[in-house]
Amino acid sequence: MDKFVINGGRRLFGEVPISGAKNAAVAIIPATLLAKGKCRVDNIPEISDVRLMFKTLEYLGASVRLIHPGCYEIDTSSISTTEVPGMYAQKMRASYYFLGALLGRCGKASVAMPGGCDFGVRPIDQHQKSFEALGARVNLESGRISTDAKELKAGHIYFDVVTVGATMNAMLAAVTAEGQTVIENAAKEPHIVDLANFLNLMGADVRGAGTDTIKVRGVKEMHGCDYSIIPDQIEAGTYMVMAAAAGGDVTIKGVIPKHLESITAKLQECGATVEEFDDSVRVAAEGRLTKCNVKTMPHPGFPTDMQPQIAAMLASCEGTSIVSESIWDNRFRYIEQLLRMGAQIHVEGKAAIIEGVPYLKGAPVRADDLRAGAAMLIAGLTARGTTEIENIHLIERGYEHVVEKMTAIGADIRRVRYDEPAALGTSAV
Ligand code: EPZ
Repeated sequence: MDKFVINGGRRLFGEVPISGAKNAAVAIIPATLLAKGKCRVDNIPEISDVRLMFKTLEYLGASVRLIHPGCYEIDTSSISTTEVPGMYAQKMRASYYFLGALLGRCGKASVAMPGGCDFGVRPIDQHQKSFEALGARVNLESGRISTDAKELKAGHIYFDVVTVGATMNAMLAAVTAEGQTVIENAAKEPHIVDLANFLNLMGADVRGAGTDTIKVRGVKEMHGCDYSIIPDQIEAGTYMVMAAAAGGDVTIKGVIPKHLESITAKLQECGATVEEFDDSVRVAAEGRLTKCNVKTMPHPGFPTDMQPQIAAMLASCEGTSIVSESIWDNRFRYIEQLLRMGAQIHVEGKAAIIEGVPYLKGAPVRADDLRAGAAMLIAGLTARGTTEIENIHLIERGYEHVVEKMTAIGADIRRVRYDEPAALGTSAV
């Protein structure tokens, strides 16, 4: 097993390139099934979630060929099964996109119950409701979700909650359904727009993505295309917070600054300088930053996937900050790890009250999930002393070349092999 070892207290300088968006890639890869041909997709991040998506596609009968790093040709002309086994589906949430894509392509799909990060209950009722609105039957049995339709027909879908996954799945299933499907109270995240753009290049007719009403007019045939995935909003935001928290002057390159506005606003409120350019943002900070309050909201609000990272920064900012989580029931598990590092935080329901301490102290900690792991990286950068992070495979689900990128801007981080299994999390903090 490997762990990350970070010696904190170094300021960060230089440039960091941002990879393609994980949460767009994990939807676009299954979406290639709708093409019945070859798609060439560029700017795909080299992360474990993507590798798993490719393995699943290959299991279904598709072929995946590396053209150059980050660029793949995916050929879905022949598919031999519409069933995704647990060994693939249970490792990640996004495996539910195979339901929408296979339903749209073959009129049926069966996927073992998706796994993914554990933030409490993660229902799939809105996915089910979308497929049913298009005339499909949905069956949840023996740990599998199965769906089938004689013929998909356009429908009217009104989501009870704003959901990224169900919005994408509704789009995937609706592109070939006869007539015009209307999706209301749709999610507006950048990856929703990216998926719509990809589907449209494949011949679909999707309008309104990025607003809360999306209209999908069904088409008979889809075809292959060339596409490049947008930059990762959350990876960019994570490096922005690293630069602000550690201090220094870092330019985050290859981004869409508009996608980062909610993060920019919070860092400025804390006293960091953030400058926007056409496709980069510069974050500079000196001395100790000050508190701010953050509430997570669907896009364009502050992303829940940046909540642990900003909390890790606020742990050593001056003053008392309140971080409220409004998307997930249980996304504060990482706080136990910050407490090990001397943070003063208590959780009341869906809010974390953070009394900023002058500095965190390095300690052995673990990544509880992907973004919780990113928070540990930030805490380790700002802490005095050495922080050792276990469970790093969870960080590598979503951050490409994280050690190389952090080292290039001056962080003292190493990946170290160790033999002992992680024994953290049982002792009282
Ligand atoms: C996506 O998850 C992201 N994952 C998550 O990022 C992200 O935290 C989340 O959107 C919110 O932005 C991927 O894109 C692969 P949702 P998703 O459906 O689609 C409720 C990361 O770190 N809900 O938008 O699964 C749900 O309980 C990951 O990269 C229902 O009630 O999330 C939650 O409260 C972690 N019924 C809210 O909607 C449903 O059928 C938003 O969930 C579906 C969701």
